Amino acid sequence: MDTGQAARLRELDRTVVWHAFSQMSEYDGLIIEEAQGSWLTDIHGKRYFDGASSLWCNLFGHRVPQIDQALIEQLGKVAHVTNLGMSHPVTIRLAERLTKLAGRGLEHVFFSGDGASAVEVAMKLAFQYWQQKQVPEPNRKKFIALGNAYHGDTIGTVSVSGVSLFQETFEPLLFDVIRGPCPDNYRRPPGMSSTEACACYLEAYESLLIAHGPNVAAVLAESCIQGAAGFVMQPRGFLVGLAKLCKKHDVLLILDEIAVGMGRTGRLFAFEHEESEGREEIRPDFVCLGKGLTGGYLAMSATLTTRRIWDAFLGRFEDHKTFYHGHTYGGNPLAAAAGNAVLDLLEGRLGDGCYSLKAIEANSVRFTQVLEPLRELTNVGDLRQLGMMAAIEWVADKPSKARMERSVRFGKRVCDKALERGLWLRPLGDVVPILPAVASSPEDLDWIGKTLQKVLHDVVL
Ligand SMILES: Cc1ncc(COP(=O)(O)O)c(C=O)c1O
Repeated sequence: MDTGQAARLRELDRTVVWHAFSQMSEYDGLIIEEAQGSWLTDIHGKRYFDGASSLWCNLFGHRVPQIDQALIEQLGKVAHVTNLGMSHPVTIRLAERLTKLAGRGLEHVFFSGDGASAVEVAMKLAFQYWQQKQVPEPNRKKFIALGNAYHGDTIGTVSVSGVSLFQETFEPLLFDVIRGPCPDNYRRPPGMSSTEACACYLEAYESLLIAHGPNVAAVLAESCIQGAAGFVMQPRGFLVGLAKLCKKHDVLLILDEIAVGMGRTGRLFAFEHEESEGREEIRPDFVCLGKGLTGGYLAMSATLTTRRIWDAFLGRFEDHKTFYHGHTYGGNPLAAAAGNAVLDLLEGRLGDGCYSLKAIEANSVRFTQVLEPLRELTNVGDLRQLGMMAAIEWVADKPSKARMERSVRFGKRVCDKALERGLWLRPLGDVVPILPAVASSPEDLDWIGKTLQKVLHDVVL
């Protein structure tokens, strides 16, 4: 592209397109012309490694031949039909496969277009369930949410989210939520081990359930990692403990797997990590999926739920038990075709096994080896990783975990330097997530490690 054309595009991009989560007065983002695998090429022909997987959704890299082919085949049939009164074989097939893979009594799927909608659907289903189940419990109108949670940007999901920066302005529009502590395994209560902190967090949630249980419709939680909070990792055992508490107090559990699901952590669902080491099975009432569901190709999300919930919505039309909620593109066949290809890749049916869950687990080990040396560097307070999801938290002082001055914008400085070296990352305050494609080659992973070493050297000196 000639420089005149490129300059005009940049100008339009800064003045006409309103970019998400961006201060437009200082906006100066990349304009990507094309991509291949993990590499993005901008309109000037410069290449960047997509180190944030296009905001955590691009699972296997860009232009994956098997997903491309599935989309081309689907385009030869139909791009979209509504799911109000009709359906399409690929959508039905995707629903069936998701339920089979999920197991745990998750037998039904509601499709939406984005993650926030998938969570809103779970919340509305949970709320309506208590109103109309065989013996209604109409007082169950409240939600318990985790400290620093993030579930999306609609008014409902902002209400249950707990990241103050995103909430403050909209406070008057939000509904009341019962808020528990953030189960942070790095910034634990003083003097506590991870196991002690886990017990302490669970105790706080049990107290909330004892105090409010009969008024609570559901507890919401991101599984294992609270992404927008800064990739906060929950202590091992927290989620399994929370699920147990929900069963004990007969409160529904909504697990938000939008960022962590679909193989990103080496398991189809991140909560499966919690079940290892002999712990019992987690049986959520709702699981929300998005982002990687279509491999990062198309906007689709899904809310999986159980027969217990489904049955409470059955009745005659005049019983008014219908779920009056829907999205124009819910169940979109093109997105569903991508979703089926993603499952084929994760199951190893396509792609010679190199995109399978097994391969992702193996890749995670190499990712750990690449990242580990960074832990020793100045200002690296914490390095957290689960599968192919990692983040570095920068601190002013390692022993005390003292945070950097906010005005220093250290995370942004790291990302700016990384960009100069061809690595695109997107900070969350002083936390920098690193999410390469789950099927990144060993060479790509090694390159990330070496580049980060150089970047950190640049920034700290
Ligand atoms: C855990 C979690 N839930 C929900 C969402 C919202 O998804 P979307 O941006 O597709 O609405 C996100 C987005 O980052 C997320 O990380």
